[in-house]
Amino acid sequence: MQNQFVIDDTVVKLSLPANATDAITIRSVPYNYTVNFISKADLIKELQALAAHNKEKHFIYIDDVVDKLYTEDMLSGAPTTLINAREKNKNLATAMKLVDVLQAKNFTKKEVIVSMGGGITQDITAFARAVFKRGINWVYVPTTLLSMADSCIGAKSCLNYKGGKNQLGLFSSPARVLICDELLRSLPKRDILSGYGEIVKLVIVGGETTIKLFEKYVSTQHGDVLHNIIPIIQLSLAVKNSVITIDEFEANIRKALNYGHTVGHAIEPLLNYKIPHGIAISIGMLVENEIAVVYGSLAKNESAVLKDLILPYIDAESISYLKKLDVNDVLNNMKKDKKNLSDEIFLAIPYAIGKFGMLNVKADNRLKELLANAFDNLIAGTK
Ligand SMILES: NC(=O)c1ccc[n+]([C@@H]2O[C@H](COP(=O)([O-])OP(=O)(O)OC[C@H]3O[C@@H](n4cnc5c(N)ncnc54)[C@H](O)[C@@H]3O)[C@@H](O)[C@H]2O)c1
Repeated sequence: MQNQFVIDDTVVKLSLPANATDAITIRSVPYNYTVNFISKADLIKELQALAAHNKEKHFIYIDDVVDKLYTEDMLSGAPTTLINAREKNKNLATAMKLVDVLQAKNFTKKEVIVSMGGGITQDITAFARAVFKRGINWVYVPTTLLSMADSCIGAKSCLNYKGGKNQLGLFSSPARVLICDELLRSLPKRDILSGYGEIVKLVIVGGETTIKLFEKYVSTQHGDVLHNIIPIIQLSLAVKNSVITIDEFEANIRKALNYGHTVGHAIEPLLNYKIPHGIAISIGMLVENEIAVVYGSLAKNESAVLKDLILPYIDAESISYLKKLDVNDVLNNMKKDKKNLSDEIFLAIPYAIGKFGMLNVKADNRLKELLANAFDNLIAGTK
């Protein structure tokens, strides 16, 4: 285990909102911003106020699925620019199309763009608004569980490039985030599981206290995975907020939030993004845990506890795609990971529950074998 960083419950100081409607303040560079939890009726009012502010320049970058579901009801004819939220479109070409809209409308720093959709819509919008005139104001309305509970804070924006997942990136904070959990009722089951993947990752980063709280909320769900969703989102954001308050630009402890991502990002493009992002991360966490156990960085019993937490959020369909993977390709993609500084692979992994560090492993036949075994174990586990 390399000690480039250490994160444990002495570092992550959790501060949870007392009420479901309390705003969260995110300390960020160059400005702080707030996350508000609001009803659909209040979201409509907020969007109307933004329309009045922007006047003839008002428009909304919106996920095309969300547009079909909600525009008529909520946006009362506001002009929209549609985003086809697919990983194959999360690229420079799409971002530049959004830039073209800003330029055609002669957008200035006075106006505020609205972006409404999941993490793909957020990543593309955040990139476009950041590069146009070195930054146009934007309000983000996340519409997926993953974007409400994770990506909406932290300011990252990433685009895919030449077959590599999230290879281009920059930091780009919104002016405000408006979370309306009522929008989750239309979200497909696999996208809900995907959101839980990133939530479980953050809950594990938070350590014993957050794991216990998460388990308490989940234990009352009785099959309705959206029951208690606001406290679950707040718990997840509270952990992320504690980490990014200390290290927004990932010099150190924020690397823990890449847990599961080295393997997750490697498999996503190889399977043509048929596995939603958060489920790929759940698979990544389990595979990386197995590697960490073999390298002596994580105890077997702790890995088993983590497996029980993570496994419920991986569906059989996603597991079935793992049969198509060639470990040589997985390893090649892992070598492209942003954390790597040399030919070695860097994995952000827990060395105990709630304690994180960096494990560097050689990209050799031993690692290939471990990857193959870990995928086989997952496939066998669902038979
Ligand atoms: N910037 C960051 O910090 C960050 C963090 C984590 C993940 N990400 C990125 O986020 C992306 C994944 O985002 P995601 O999981 O939020 O989803 P997404 O944007 O990929 O959307 C998932 C699907 O849900 C649909 N959808 C969105 N909202 C809906 C709603 N309310 N009802 C019905 N359907 C809806 C979309 O059209 C799409 O088909 C990945 O590209 C990942 O790399 C970014």
